[in-house]
Amino acid sequence: MKLEDVKTICVVGAGNMGHQIALGCALAGFKTACTDISQEMLDKAEGFARSYLPERVAKGKLSQEKADQALENIRFTTNLEDAAGDADFVIEAAVEKMVIKRKLFADLDRIAPPHAILATNSSYIVSSQVADATNRPDKVCNMHFFNPALVMKLVEVVQGPHTSEETAQVTMDLCARLGKTAVLLKKEIYGFLVNRILSALAQEALFLADMGIATPQEIDLAVTNALGHPMGPFRLMDLTGIDLAYYSAMERYQSSRDPKDKPSPLVVEKFVKGEWGKKTKKGYYTYE
Ligand code: 3HC
Repeated sequence: MKLEDVKTICVVGAGNMGHQIALGCALAGFKTACTDISQEMLDKAEGFARSYLPERVAKGKLSQEKADQALENIRFTTNLEDAAGDADFVIEAAVEKMVIKRKLFADLDRIAPPHAILATNSSYIVSSQVADATNRPDKVCNMHFFNPALVMKLVEVVQGPHTSEETAQVTMDLCARLGKTAVLLKKEIYGFLVNRILSALAQEALFLADMGIATPQEIDLAVTNALGHPMGPFRLMDLTGIDLAYYSAMERYQSSRDPKDKPSPLVVEKFVKGEWGKKTKKGYYTYE
């Protein structure tokens, strides 16, 4: 398969990442189906597309014609069969829980045409942990976007030992068509490059907050002003989701059993309270 054979893309999950990945695909000219089990999430995703595109046109960053075409290219459905049945390329951006991902990959393997590539946008989980739930491990890889996915330029593509050269190449080519800069990792490692580096920073920031050395807001102020990061680690966690920080730490702890991998007390507190960041309008900060 070549990139030219990819006409139809299915994005599974309309959450923080999926809604923007799907819109990015539609903007790049692909017929795109965005699917989620929650109609409410799909309504939000559609609402976002319907307000974002006119905003881009008003800002002079997008032509009216391209905005109209993108809206024509994208559809939203709760029906996985319908969304993935004719897909040439699937990007899974569902919740960061192994059991859910494995079930989804088994379903997608059954539903998607045999030639379709199945990529996961997982933040941490390497694709070999889901590839064996399918009968096409050579067509499974990681394709990891960053939040907000319409803005951040990088995508990490990870070629597992099961992933064919062709799959890695088509995925890299797709990244380029989406206007992204892609790095290809030929060795699987939990968290890939960026999230490993980011977690080192977040872990230290959480340690300092848990110890009462400084508040999350003070730590963010220090990091943005001293290191020039556009956001401090706590505001960034609000953006990417404190639920994601919790689930990924739990996944890591369940496989390592190393107490240092457990979610930090502050993350647990926020998770239990349902204060998951921007998506719940409250995390370390409060949002309108
Ligand atoms: N969705 C879409 N576009 C957005 C957006 C959003 N949520 N937020 C901002 N933008 C766009 C704006 O429309 C604007 O576009 P334009 O310049 O073309 O007009 C541009 O981004 C800049 O926006 P603003 O001027 O409003 O705000 P900032 O200059 O503060 O930028 C930011 C916002 C791009 C989010 C910036 O703060 C930033 O880069 N933050 C760091 C983000 C980051 O580190 N992301 C990686 C997280 S790690 C991750 O995602 C891994 C995953 O596995 C968890």
